[in-house]
Amino acid sequence: MRVLSGIQPTGRIHWGNYFGANRQYIDLQHGNEAYYFIANLHALTTIRDPRVLRQNSLDMAIDLLSLGIDPNKATLFVQSDVPEISELCWILMTADILGYDADIVPVGQDQVQHIEVCRDIAGGFNHAFGEVFVLPKAKVLDDSAKVVGTDGEKMSKSYNNTIEVFEPFKAMRKKVMRIATDSRPMEEPKEPAGDHLYQLYSLFADEAKREEMAALYRRGGFGYGQVKTALADAAEAFFAASHARREQFSANPRRVEEILADGASRARKKAGEVLKRAKKACGL
Ligand code: TRP
Repeated sequence: MRVLSGIQPTGRIHWGNYFGANRQYIDLQHGNEAYYFIANLHALTTIRDPRVLRQNSLDMAIDLLSLGIDPNKATLFVQSDVPEISELCWILMTADILGYDADIVPVGQDQVQHIEVCRDIAGGFNHAFGEVFVLPKAKVLDDSAKVVGTDGEKMSKSYNNTIEVFEPFKAMRKKVMRIATDSRPMEEPKEPAGDHLYQLYSLFADEAKREEMAALYRRGGFGYGQVKTALADAAEAFFAASHARREQFSANPRRVEEILADGASRARKKAGEVLKRAKKACGL
């Protein structure tokens, strides 16, 4: 299968982004032909400072590489480095998906409607001009991927309740310790399922650890401080390797730029094929 997704370089990846959408990128690069791009053209609508846009784009590349995007498996590039897509835009909106013949588009729930629009547009074009475009399918993780923020609401940058993946561990720990909890007495046994601290812990812990924590909840007699410490420990262990890789990449931005240049040339090759096919089909 061919997999494609884009991510806007408008801020740093938080737990909600990672568990809600971006971790799919890493899984799907195995056994598929995967294209992932940093959507700097999309970000132009919100970022008004060229230095910020450039820095954010490089940072996003570093974040993704550090989380495990392997440039030998996936094609990682910056959106504006593929001018074929901008030309294809004159023929079709949604060109940044259709331009790569993507079968699968791993995204968060909030993006599904865009893929639907994309399918409609591609279908309309194919109906008029023949089978030119592949109709892509959105791939969304199941409900367990909904991540709550530090206030117990859905984690989102706009709610100001995020914990960033690459937050220095000390700061991350502080945020975890400040997560809102209810004030039920410590002795009372609690049902883990509906508890947001338990839900967060479950993102990071393996089955055995989850069971252990669930048992602790049902037995009662523990404090939320204990759960928070366990959560911070688990999150730290989970992201430790990525943090270490990030140190290396950020010390060597030239290497990251090489990876992106190589990604762009691979992406251009694919997008060039699709553009040629589309132009021929509609008489350009
Ligand atoms: N709209 C996406 C976001 O806001 C980014 C994006 C741009 C994208 N083009 C895409 C995602 C194509 C998937 C496919 O995060």
